[in-house]
Amino acid sequence: MDACISQNACADRSEPAIELVDAPRLAQLLFDDGLSNFRPAARQKARLLELRASSPGAMAVARKDETAVGYFILCTPDKEEYWGAYEGHNLLEASLEVSPRWRGRGLAMALARRLAEEDWEDYILIASCCYWNWDLRRTGLNAYAYRRVLQKIFSLLGLIPYPTVEPDVRSHPANIFLLRLGSRVTAPAREAFLALCLGKAPCLNHPPD
Ligand SMILES: CC(C)(COP(=O)(O)OP(=O)(O)OC[C@H]1O[C@@H](n2cnc3c(N)ncnc32)[C@H](O)[C@@H]1OP(=O)(O)O)[C@@H](O)C(=O)NCCC(=O)NCCS
Repeated sequence: MDACISQNACADRSEPAIELVDAPRLAQLLFDDGLSNFRPAARQKARLLELRASSPGAMAVARKDETAVGYFILCTPDKEEYWGAYEGHNLLEASLEVSPRWRGRGLAMALARRLAEEDWEDYILIASCCYWNWDLRRTGLNAYAYRRVLQKIFSLLGLIPYPTVEPDVRSHPANIFLLRLGSRVTAPAREAFLALCLGKAPCLNHPPD
């Protein structure tokens, strides 16, 4: 069972295809072994499969032939995370990664553009951007420049900076929280979520010390 393939160099300059995938389609794809920013590629593929099968949202993949070299997923945040305290079913968290050999060719932007073609007006979209998840070493960027790159990518989906008390985001000045509230999100859902953002709501998973 080979979920990953290895590529020593990206000599191929032809453009990967951008495709929206459901869980069965994702299961068919190989994963470039460079997709290891968050965990080893095979485990990341398994995690994404789990998320895609169990969560609303969408996932776009950049694929070279049948090998995923980048992905962008919108899915329900983990219940154990701060955002898991939000009880609505319309909250989606963004996460993306492009294999180092395929970076700097506009794939992250292309993935974001593809997802932006879908209708997100019923959803609250968020991205919690924390520097310890970033590949500062390979990109050669400092944390603030890297944050600007992420803001540019996520802005294609309409996400903009929003204040939050979420402890991870607040723990470093380079971290940033980005938000998009869909136009059809109901007023009570909007209020409940913004209260959680600003620490004005009871947060069941994270009671105050
Ligand atoms: C962040 C990441 C997804 C960018 O992927 P990518 O395919 O290289 O990005 P793109 O080529 O689409 O570039 C996006 C924009 O950022 C800029 N950019 C990207 N990498 C850059 C770099 N190293 N230096 C300067 N600018 C950079 C591009 O110029 C582009 O802007 P432009 O369209 O105005 O030119 C990739 O570096 C990655 O996977 N990092 C590890 C995972 C990660 O950080 N995920 C986010 C967690 S919150």
